[in-house]
Amino acid sequence: MTVREILKMGDARLLRVAPPVPEGDFDSDAIHLLVSDMFDTMRAVNGAGLAAPQIGVDLQLVIFGTDAPNPRYPDAPLVPRTVLLNPEITPIGDAEEDGWEGCLSVPGLRGVVPRWSKIRYTGFDQYGDPIDRTVDGFHARVVQHECDHLIGKLYPMRVRDFTQFGFTEVLFPGLDAGEDD
Ligand code: NI
Repeated sequence: MTVREILKMGDARLLRVAPPVPEGDFDSDAIHLLVSDMFDTMRAVNGAGLAAPQIGVDLQLVIFGTDAPNPRYPDAPLVPRTVLLNPEITPIGDAEEDGWEGCLSVPGLRGVVPRWSKIRYTGFDQYGDPIDRTVDGFHARVVQHECDHLIGKLYPMRVRDFTQFGFTEVLFPGLDAGEDD
């Protein structure tokens, strides 16, 4: 069990464009250890997702989802526990939707971010098995948020209406004032 330090906005390592995980590293001890540490880290703060660059690892690898409801998002639809390497996202249609987001690298804040409503995403799991899913809603939002970390984008860079950006404790008094995803 290793909970790693999560980098915060302002750290230049969060702004890098991550290279893909080399195919030869699929199903390697190094990748399995990294994934294990990332789940330990995400669980420790009840995050909805985590990208490798957030713990300073410059690789196209994200994790998200859980097999049980997240106590911070008890009403959110369940997103399956997923390890995703070298992802590619294709929007399905032109529809966008606004939704509140937070980020473990931007603690204490929330903002409304437009995302594609429906996407197809492809990539590989940690064993090198292909993943190919078409999803919408919260699932699609989580994937887009996490994959943005792989191209140096933090959600505040996507906020269009800054009247809907602020401190969680002010915007949502009474909400579990824990960490943000
Ligand atoms: Ni984030």
